[in-house]
Amino acid sequence: MTDRVVAVAPGRVNLIGDHTDTTGGWVLPLAIDRATTITGERGGPVVALRSATEAEPAVVPLDVADPAAVAPAWARYVAGVVAELRPAEGFVGEVGTTLPVGAGLSSSAALEVAVALALGFDGSTLDLARLGQRAEHRASGVPCGIMDQLASAAGVDGHALLVDCTELTVVPVPVPDDVEVVVVHSGQERALAGSPYAERRARCEAAEAVVGPLRSATVDDLDALDDPVTLARARHVVTENARVRAAAAALAAGDVVEVGRLMVDSHASLRDDFEVSTPALDGLVERLLATPGVLGARLTGAGFGGCVVALARPGAVREGWTVRAAAGASVRVG
Ligand code: GLA
Repeated sequence: MTDRVVAVAPGRVNLIGDHTDTTGGWVLPLAIDRATTITGERGGPVVALRSATEAEPAVVPLDVADPAAVAPAWARYVAGVVAELRPAEGFVGEVGTTLPVGAGLSSSAALEVAVALALGFDGSTLDLARLGQRAEHRASGVPCGIMDQLASAAGVDGHALLVDCTELTVVPVPVPDDVEVVVVHSGQERALAGSPYAERRARCEAAEAVVGPLRSATVDDLDALDDPVTLARARHVVTENARVRAAAAALAAGDVVEVGRLMVDSHASLRDDFEVSTPALDGLVERLLATPGVLGARLTGAGFGGCVVALARPGAVREGWTVRAAAGASVRVG
């Protein structure tokens, strides 16, 4: 009899630091207590997964050539991992998730990381995240950064993660007990494929071709940029990197009021300079900020719809999901 495999990978919410990972900046996400779980057995010529929430199963041959062409759509993420990992044997099992799909809580990163562990990935947390990121590129064509997969792989119970996306270091920062992290959906579905995500990334790279790495640039350095749109995109990244490090320091010191203030500034920068917010997200942020006990609120993840994250006094927000910072992905065999 073959061993039963149980692989679990959490989603993530990003407290602050969006659109900074792709230029090697800083982010402050946390893995959350909502996760994707894969159970089953290794063996056979294909990776075959049923999902409780999807009508069609994923059936992926081990030599899959083009993950982006696989159907149904959710199977592309499975295929992306198979193409990156090239496991010697297949897998038959089931996928279950407590993550809302398409909400900006990294359900796809959780799926990639869980699939990799289920199929026998054996390496460092960082390599697991990198493999998931490459799988995402292959599956969706979206040139995402490392944040989502690394948060899922490297989560620490009760802690946010200060990630330096150049050094690829992760510093856990405790989340104080006197606040809650609440995620509220804007009601607007978010799809990154076909969104301007890649265009924003290209703009940042164009800025870097002139001023050098944005992670070490100052706002004054950006005067060298002639194009006002490129300048605004780069200004978001430069100021957001500073906010992330300030927020990590404030969180570590228990200064949650300051963290909230930085989150409000982050949202304004994503709205005005990076232009990835929407009226639905802006309206939700404003409504939450008007709620007594809410310290900060901002869009979280890529934007263009999806969720808002709020930092609030316990019990202040009576909607959405209150999430706890959770441990990273794990696998049990036998
Ligand atoms: C998506 C990407 C991440 C990151 C965020 C924006 O979630 O997958 O790599 O770029 O958008 O911060």
